[in-house]
Amino acid sequence: MAFPSAWLDELFAKNEIVSVISSYVDLKPKGRKLWACCPLHGEKTPSFSVSPDKQLFYCFGCHAGGTVVQFVMDMERLTYPEAIRYLADRVGMEMPENVNDQALKLARQHKNRLYEATRAAARYYFECFTDPELGKPGREYAQKRGLTPEIVKRFGLGYAPESWDGLFNRLTKDGFTKKELLDAGLLVHNEQKNSVYDAYRGRMIYPIIGVNGQVLGFGARVLNNDKPKYINTGDTPIYNKRNNLYGLYLHKNEKLSDLIMVEGYMDVIGLYKAGVTNAVASLGTALTQQQARLLKRYVDTVYIAYDGDAAGQNATVRGLDILSAEGLQVRVISFPDDLDPDEYVQIYGKTGFDRLKENALSLNEFKVRSLANGFRLNDENDRERYAVRACAFVGTLQPIEQERYYKVISELTGYAVEALEAQGARSGGMVLSEQPVSLRRGGFRRRNDSPEQPRFIQERTLLAACITDPEALKVAIDAGAGTLFLTEAFRTFFEALIQDPKLSIPQYVSAIPSEDAEAISSLLKEEGVMKNAVRTAKDCIRRLQEADGQASLEELQKRLAEPGLSASEKAELLQKIQTQIKAKK
Ligand code: CTP
Ligand code: MN
Repeated sequence: MAFPSAWLDELFAKNEIVSVISSYVDLKPKGRKLWACCPLHGEKTPSFSVSPDKQLFYCFGCHAGGTVVQFVMDMERLTYPEAIRYLADRVGMEMPENVNDQALKLARQHKNRLYEATRAAARYYFECFTDPELGKPGREYAQKRGLTPEIVKRFGLGYAPESWDGLFNRLTKDGFTKKELLDAGLLVHNEQKNSVYDAYRGRMIYPIIGVNGQVLGFGARVLNNDKPKYINTGDTPIYNKRNNLYGLYLHKNEKLSDLIMVEGYMDVIGLYKAGVTNAVASLGTALTQQQARLLKRYVDTVYIAYDGDAAGQNATVRGLDILSAEGLQVRVISFPDDLDPDEYVQIYGKTGFDRLKENALSLNEFKVRSLANGFRLNDENDRERYAVRACAFVGTLQPIEQERYYKVISELTGYAVEALEAQGARSGGMVLSEQPVSLRRGGFRRRNDSPEQPRFIQERTLLAACITDPEALKVAIDAGAGTLFLTEAFRTFFEALIQDPKLSIPQYVSAIPSEDAEAISSLLKEEGVMKNAVRTAKDCIRRLQEADGQASLEELQKRLAEPGLSASEKAELLQKIQTQIKAKK
């Protein structure tokens, strides 16, 4: 952390969250929290809460949340260090500049070394790609996918040969240390053998380049249909996938009228090759607020062009709100037949793509249409249920827009526009939150934890129990609950709690990426409603273990009774049984 912990403690103590937020909105007490209409997104009923106990805020509407620092960042559009300075100024504290100079300098030097390492790695992968022998599989794949030499050069593509130490040998010879290569995500550490090996092997390499031209990390694709299809650099001191967009650096010095948001590496590249040069990719993750802000620096209008499959369509719905919340104009391009943008332009070319772009849907039309997902419109009951929902939504729009969308609903359902108007007026602008079952299940994006998932709620409840009662934390630690958290932000927080059960939550939360801060602040949902934290923790642990398919107690006991077990197998089983019995207590 860049600021000394004691100094931050004082900063938080002096900038009590309620007093800071009260200067923006009128907070009304209810239960253990204070409430207001969210100043970060427009709303009519209060879903913005502040916890004086935890010194956190959380909006149940827009899911913004965090400490007083995150609040000031969001409200005043400041970066983290700017917000810290703002709060220090507010209470007349000196910035701890001198204390930190040395630490900051070292951190900066280390980062520069990592940038050099990733650049050297990119060069190495490119050389391997062109090497007559080593690079053959990569070149064959490139040819198959139509990756011409110009494209390879433009995107800095390369090939990581099938070798455990090719990169390691080259880069250590160039003077990089093992630690630098590990920190940059170029090597993987094997704990059992206490050795390291190259992170990417036998894969096509797509460097991820930052807006200032530095190589931040890599995507590495298999050459066949093996899984996982891509391995990507995880979080490192120089790369965080939430803060970057693949392909954006190409437009650093350009004046663009709009950008096209796509999902993957190959979509950016495929479109580029077809002549659509302004696509950027979120790399398969849900769009983040940071990415939306990044886009806003370049353009006012963004076209979302996610894959035509259901997962892509659902991700589109969520991306829309994030982009429009940042004040971007959003339009949606839909591809037919489950095609992705890359596949589409291979068939229909730039002309076809431009036509789709011209006919892109407005945000609201897309919403009206996508509300129909999961309903069978040839079934009368479903048709009616869809119409009711869609009218409820259209009823919330500006009167002038409404007519257009009632026409769309009419076209989809066959109901007369007048009947739909009456329906919309009757629902009084109430949006029904209930989703059709098919959307609630399985509609979630791969590898992403959407706050709506039952899993997320279970994990959150467990973590809330841990910070409510030290006994519950103990139970969770004994049960080895760390592995149960699939939500990264939760797992990391839990690990921090294990290290230091007296952890300063505001300090911790203020220093993590804003998405993680939001996830942690959503713990406020449970605040004040939990009666028996220990029991809750045990319950959640059991359910999460079951969900993970961890063997039931009976199963384990049966296995223990089997003849011919080795001593170590026995010990392992006993350990597991013990853990479960403890968790059940
Ligand atoms: N992705 C990932 N890991 C996976 C699958 C996907 O990180 N196992 C990310 C990658 O950034 C990928 C994006 O999600 O580019 C979109 O996934 P997908 O549409 O499956 O890949 P494409 O980019 O279309 O790649 P290709 O055409 O080579 O299959
Ligand atoms: Mn593809």
